[in-house]
This record gives sequence, structure tokens and C-alpha cells, in this order.
Amino acid sequence: MAQSEKKRQAALAALEFIEPGCRLGVGTGSTVNCLIEELSQVRDKIEVLVASSRGTRNRLADAGFEIAQLTTVGDLDLYIDGADEANKQFHLIKGGGGALTREKICAAASRRFVCIIDDSKWVGVLGKFPLPVEVIPMAQAHVARQFVKARGQPILRKDFVTDNGNSIIDVHGLTIANPVEMEQRFNQIAGVVSVGIFAQRPADVILMAGDSGVTRLER
Ligand code: 5RP
Repeated sequence: MAQSEKKRQAALAALEFIEPGCRLGVGTGSTVNCLIEELSQVRDKIEVLVASSRGTRNRLADAGFEIAQLTTVGDLDLYIDGADEANKQFHLIKGGGGALTREKICAAASRRFVCIIDDSKWVGVLGKFPLPVEVIPMAQAHVARQFVKARGQPILRKDFVTDNGNSIIDVHGLTIANPVEMEQRFNQIAGVVSVGIFAQRPADVILMAGDSGVTRLER
């Protein structure tokens, strides 16, 4: 099965988590775009929608949905988002699309976080996918030096500005063997807005699409 079809299958499987009156957060990326294409099927069940990026907000608006601001709606019932890597502890790497900070806020504010992936994202140890780090622009060089000390190879994402007006540094070559500790440690570097390790607030459910269908994993 093609990867694009797996993404669609994972997205479709997430629809059943949307219950009547749902206050729903919508992530960012190509897998989530499949979800947005199918979301009109459950339109009547959605009370409030919050978007994790401008890109997602625009797609939802094009599909005829009204979008609310997280600050005005309070906590969410459900957050659905993709990931760049996932492991069996439900820890994730996210931020390939550069939306990691708002995604992390939505995940933190949600009662349940359902992660939709194809099976290419499943790993034993996180870190093969370069770790995205959102950085205040004036701190780029300082933050990069701290990641070199941590044995990573930081590369500034070219011609990219986040929705928050910041830069992204992609850190290659890290072995993220202790995601909770590394998330905490990297978060403390001055100038880091957020790191793409989602371990302190992991996914609650992973829907992973492979050749033989969608596997549902619950924490
Ligand atoms: C965006 C993300 C995405 O969830 C992640 O990059 C996965 O994207 P895709 O569904 O396109 O493979 O974290 O910031």
C-alpha cells in the first residue's frame, strides 16, 4: 500500500474518536490534511475546532469550518495529530512541518491525544529523524553550540519562519534514548522556544496504518 493511502487510513480511523459535542484540536501535516478532507463526515459532532497552525486553519476554513482560539475555548476533549517518529512508550518526534510549539500547546491542553501515523514512523529509539527545535532568532548560534556539546549536528532550516516568527534548527545525529529527560534538558537552553520531543505529554492513542490495516495502540 502506498504511504499516502496509509496516511488516509490512519486519518479515517481517527474519526471514531470524535464524539458528540467534541472540542477538537487539529494538528498539522500531510496525514492531518487527509483528516481535514474527511472531517465533514463528523461535522455535526464538533462543537469547537482549534487549529495548531496557520496552514491547518486555512484548510479548515476552506472546508467551511469555523475556527476558535484556544485561549477562548479552554481545554480540548481531543487532539489529533501526526508525528515524524513514534516509539512504544508513545513518545514522539514532531515538528517536521515546523508547527511543534503550537502542536505541543494543543496536546498539553487536551484530555486525549490521538496520533495518526503510517508504519514508516515507528522506531525503537527516537532520533533518526532530525530533531526540530524552535528558536528565538537572536539565540540561533548559542542554541546550535549547545546541541553540538550534546553531540548533535544542528542545521538551521533555510528560508523558514514559524507561525510565531521564530527559526527552526534541525538537530541531526542524536540518539534520544531518554526522551523525558532530554526534552526537559533541551527545553532549558536559553533561546529555545520548544523542542520536538513529545515525551512529557506523550500520545494516548497511536493509530498506525500498515499494509494489513490500522493498528490501534493505547497507553
Ligand atoms: C508538523 C508535524 C507533523 O505532525 C509531522 O511532521 C508529520 O507530518 P506528516 O503527517 O506530513 O508525515 O509535527 O509540525
